[in-house]
Amino acid sequence: MYPNPGPGKLIVLEGLDGAGTTTQAQILRDWLRGCKQVTDVYVTWEPSAGPVGTQIRQVLTRRLSMDRRTLAALFAADRIDHLYHPQGVIKRLKAGTWVVMDRYYLSSFAYQALSLSEGEIQWLRYLHAPCVIPDVTFFLDVPVKVCIERIGRNRGTNFELFEKEELLNAVSAKYWSAIDSFVVQGENIQIIDGTQHKHAVTQGLQTYIAAALF
Ligand code: TYD
Repeated sequence: MYPNPGPGKLIVLEGLDGAGTTTQAQILRDWLRGCKQVTDVYVTWEPSAGPVGTQIRQVLTRRLSMDRRTLAALFAADRIDHLYHPQGVIKRLKAGTWVVMDRYYLSSFAYQALSLSEGEIQWLRYLHAPCVIPDVTFFLDVPVKVCIERIGRNRGTNFELFEKEELLNAVSAKYWSAIDSFVVQGENIQIIDGTQHKHAVTQGLQTYIAAALF
């Protein structure tokens, strides 16, 4: 994987379904737009809105079914397209745009890792070789029970593929082991208490960004 070819910064939000990454990405965008250190801001998400991401959405909503390895490879392909297509994230970072990303490769090492063997996880790492390492990844730490309550409140019974309690417990364990191994390799992953009021969570993100990235 590569360091950010910047000058723009790459900020990633991660967490279980219901952890609040999408809400925080939007709040961060509005705040960053008002900061004099930041010339331009782009908010984006994975699975992306591109052609591969669109296929993945069909699997998540169960319109399509797919082998676990195919899905893992597809998430990686979507990520590479998201980074490298002509209007992609890398082009924007090089132009000085700050990019806020709602989910990135840590998600794959949590969700897809669930159904992959150790050897297959090595393969998944290899597939991610073209990726850019974020300047910071914020992991919004929210207990599974709270996530499930939030998903139920927001979407009723319309649960997606990974939104079940037992499954999220397993995803949570994978997240923590992936965080450990990426931190050991020198990645900057900040754990934020995502159970706080959303404004307190935002405050935590802003304080860190102002101290470390401006
Ligand atoms: P999410 O980000 O919550 O988007 P939405 O608000 O549209 O539901 O959902 C994306 C789902 O995809 C979530 O369950 C996590 C899963 N996912 C993976 O399994 N692997 C990945 O690499 C990524 C980026 C997401």
